[in-house]
Amino acid sequence: MQLACSECGAPSRDTMLCSACDGLLAFSLDAAAFDAKLLRRTFAERRLSNDPLDTSGVWRFRELLPEIAPKHVVTLRENALPLYDARAGGTYADATRVSYLHLGMNPTASFKDAGMTAAISHAKATGAQVAVCASTGNTAAAMAAYCARAGIVALVLVPAVGISAAKVAQTLDYGATVAAIDGDFDRALEIVRSLDPAHVTIVNSINPYRIEGQKCAAFALLQARDWHVPDWLVLPGGNLGNTSAFGKGFREALALGLTDRLPRMAVVQASGAAPFAALFRDGGDLRPVQARTSATAIKIGAPASWRKALAEVRVSDGTVIDVDDEAIADARAIVGRDGIGCEPASAASLAGLRVLRRRGTIAGGDDVVLVLTGHVLKDSAYATAYHESAAPFANHIHPAPTAAALRELIDEVTSARV
Ligand code: F0G
Repeated sequence: MQLACSECGAPSRDTMLCSACDGLLAFSLDAAAFDAKLLRRTFAERRLSNDPLDTSGVWRFRELLPEIAPKHVVTLRENALPLYDARAGGTYADATRVSYLHLGMNPTASFKDAGMTAAISHAKATGAQVAVCASTGNTAAAMAAYCARAGIVALVLVPAVGISAAKVAQTLDYGATVAAIDGDFDRALEIVRSLDPAHVTIVNSINPYRIEGQKCAAFALLQARDWHVPDWLVLPGGNLGNTSAFGKGFREALALGLTDRLPRMAVVQASGAAPFAALFRDGGDLRPVQARTSATAIKIGAPASWRKALAEVRVSDGTVIDVDDEAIADARAIVGRDGIGCEPASAASLAGLRVLRRRGTIAGGDDVVLVLTGHVLKDSAYATAYHESAAPFANHIHPAPTAAALRELIDEVTSARV
């Protein structure tokens, strides 16, 4: 695979940003070198194998990734992904063919693992000693886990306030050094980007290996659907690495002949952190904002991958919208009612589908995949606060101090059901 600047096209040797124009780098695949039938057969056979590389929903697709010797691969069997039908979610959004791709079912409970296995394997192959990232929590946890496996020192930079404590605890558990700043994610990323890449490996999604790993979620999704392409993929957008990764994966699947078309991509941002939605609506260049949202994972005002993401959304004939925090909160509770659950940022997809159905952008019978990016337990404090409020889908705790009181409660809830 060739590495080149995604903006000026200059070829690049293994550095983080383009030395000519500072643009983000991207790998390109020579699709003509592959036989689609053979690839499909190989990928299908690997699903029956117990080889750790084959059971990973990233390394199963290794022909389509930058080459890394198997002895350097650091895998936690990421991206072995479930697709669930979204009954409550579909009813809520007024759509009949909706499913969830739950990337929160990954080893560290978010979609970041798919990118991190590629970035940390590459770091290990090149003898890196220290990995760093800026994070709202999930990148931090994923990096920490993979670094623990690789024997690489992990240093994360997080906002001191306004991110989920569960994610920080998880990161500490994996042995990472956590540094907190008096500032937001955008400031943390600015600091990390100012570090010398000769001394540390930056594993934010500006690292092109991250995108290569994350694009495999598109392959895993398509394989799980027997290579049938959905009409729409709806996903939350923050720093926009995931949008560019999914777009790249779908384009490559098409170029390889694994599929016959692209799904349309709808990116959903939180209203208080929606510079990409504003750009899509108004045109021009991205104008950073001071981000404000209780969906803390996507509280990002200056997304690094906006150019790549914009190109992907346009080529897919997609759209970008924003939804307010209340809509995200209610949609998150509905995902729970499907017996699935997700963290707040993930529920932007369902909230977004609801808006796009109302506008008629998405038809009621369209085949829609909602991407859930993080597990419900990533932010249990948020869920607790929702259920303690008067929100429409809040589910309150009932006092039942005695067996008699419990029997009454059982009668009450069973009669309410019939
Ligand atoms: N959903 C969740 C749960 C996230 O953690 C993130 C990003 C996103 C969506 C947005 O993805 O940035 O690729 O557009 N979390 C980063 C982090 C910023 O540090 O964990 P994106």
